[in-house]
Amino acid sequence: MAAFKSWRRMRAARGYREPAAGGAVCRYVAIVMDGNGRWAQRKGLPVAAGHRAGARALRRVLERCLDVGIEEVTVYSFSTENWNRPAEEVAALMDLFIEQITTQVPDIHERGVRVRFVGRREGVPPLLVERIDAAESLTALNTRMTLYIAFNYGGRAEILDAVRALAARAPAALAAGATPDAIDEAAFRRCLSAPEMHDPELLIRTSGEQRISNFLLWQLAYSELYFSPKLWPDFGGSDLDEALAEYARRLRRFGAR
Ligand code: IPE
Ligand code: IPE
Ligand code: MG
Repeated sequence: MAAFKSWRRMRAARGYREPAAGGAVCRYVAIVMDGNGRWAQRKGLPVAAGHRAGARALRRVLERCLDVGIEEVTVYSFSTENWNRPAEEVAALMDLFIEQITTQVPDIHERGVRVRFVGRREGVPPLLVERIDAAESLTALNTRMTLYIAFNYGGRAEILDAVRALAARAPAALAAGATPDAIDEAAFRRCLSAPEMHDPELLIRTSGEQRISNFLLWQLAYSELYFSPKLWPDFGGSDLDEALAEYARRLRRFGAR
């Protein structure tokens, strides 16, 4: 252990990024909240009841995130592909989002959470866009934690939007003497939905599915992946604790030795 510690100090002194083994605390978590539909189906309930139970689970898990001092949480609440679900389910989800933002945001504002939405606004019901804007401005100055809600979000759409923004600026930049290598990782990141968002240290996906489903494609490059068999409405504080404990046991290398 002592040798390991001094090895870490040596690496840190040389400017390597700290590996997350040996009890490292996770600060940035991303969650694919999956399994609401199966949860409802198993209970013989309509799918909307599963989504409602999923919203309650989010509240519980956020509470635990606040308790353990997590600084950033990004949750996948609706993907660009989720529009392909039955119209009735999509409508129920939109109503639920409007209701949840209205009822939950004042409370999470009290708790010092900054709320930001990532994803496209096109196609989103106007009332929901209004509530999203209101939630973002109400909580803009909070510093205890940032909750990013990925809504109408797709990783490919986000990357495409960034490419389009860079392409739109390119003619003027080239005319002013810039070269294409001015587009480096930092410049690209500045064109993402939330440029200040950190790369998640840990990605949690519930429901046993082991895939990314178009979530944070750029940001997850080196995230640790954790898959829970629990359906999202059954996921709670102790499950989060388990995921964080597993994270603390991982050794992150970032491609280095
Ligand atoms: C995740 O639960 C919530 C959304 C995608 C909006 P699902 O609705 O995908 O649940 P399963 O995967 O069908 O069980
Ligand atoms: C990902 O789950 C999106 C959200 C949790 C919001 P899906 O249920 O839509 O993903 P797939 O279809 O199983 O890949
Ligand atoms: Mg699903």
